[in-house]
Amino acid sequence: MDIKYNLKPASERRTEPFEPQGDVGFGKLRTDHMFMMDYKDGQWQNARILPYGPFEMMPGAMALHYGQSIFEGAKAFMHDDGEIYTFRLDKNAQRLNRSADIVCIPNIPEAVQLEAINALIDVDRLWFPRQEGACLYIRPFVFATEDRLSVSPANQYTFCVVLSPSGAYYGKNLNAIRLLITTQFHRAVSGGTGASKAAGNYAASLRAGKAAAEHGAAQVLYLDSTNQYIEEVGAMNHFHIRKDGTLIIPEFTDTILRSITSESILALGEELGCEVRQETVKLSDFIADIEAGEIVEAGGFGTAAVVSPVGSYIFEDGRIVTVGDGKVGERISHIYKVYTEMQKGLRPAPEGWVR
Ligand code: COI
Repeated sequence: MDIKYNLKPASERRTEPFEPQGDVGFGKLRTDHMFMMDYKDGQWQNARILPYGPFEMMPGAMALHYGQSIFEGAKAFMHDDGEIYTFRLDKNAQRLNRSADIVCIPNIPEAVQLEAINALIDVDRLWFPRQEGACLYIRPFVFATEDRLSVSPANQYTFCVVLSPSGAYYGKNLNAIRLLITTQFHRAVSGGTGASKAAGNYAASLRAGKAAAEHGAAQVLYLDSTNQYIEEVGAMNHFHIRKDGTLIIPEFTDTILRSITSESILALGEELGCEVRQETVKLSDFIADIEAGEIVEAGGFGTAAVVSPVGSYIFEDGRIVTVGDGKVGERISHIYKVYTEMQKGLRPAPEGWVR
């Protein structure tokens, strides 16, 4: 791919490694540049790296009206050799194309996505935050730019990648969060867009998120539309661990976004010291098993959150169900340690995961 570089003058860009004073937080900061490429006349073209800044877009841009907009979230880490390594970026590129298929956006070849992201990281490498547990969070996204108000797939799009020097999504230490179990709000229905990382899925989760906050919960545990089965959390997949050490992730359906962290945990299985499998999880069984002490830990898997322990669930009527002692469990701490060590190059990862 021929990428045009229009870089900031040296006097306006970072020239020293980034050593943040204080916690960088999640998703707040940006680097000096971004990658952009347009889809026009049936092909992706005009690949460029330019200073991070506002877009020019027509008010009739279809993404603004009909929501053809998708995104990804990936991470890169600095290893002890001082180089920056992406983690399972090929999986993110593949998932972007699955999301694209679901909302009728043209695919972007995996190799093109990887080249774009690698080139951008290369230009802004000094922005890697030198702070314990930090990463470069990679946010690729695609949106419809065609200026038209009739409803059908757009003919023009922009693919953009921005980078955010970031720390942990939920704060520095592993903390057990509370989830609201609601029968009032649903994230997705079968035949809908739930399996895609479409922007609209996240807009649809905000109202439920407000209800969670009103119940003192961090997020929502979504059920399927019949309110019988556990689906996912929205910003992450859900999992639980049984007394015998088996880790269970709800079966991926077309209402669940396949978390790359979940897929990695499924692939690692034994290496994490537990059997990992997927099954349909019935809410009533799940709650009964927690109360009987059969389920001892629970949490969420996601790129931003990595592994987030869940200490308790609250229902809309105020009933609280606590998992184990409500604190961060040993198995989850172990999984978090193994997984983040692989990301940071402190432990060998399967072939091709770290590049
Ligand atoms: C990610 O885990 O990267 C996500 O995309 C979740 C995000 C909405 C913060």
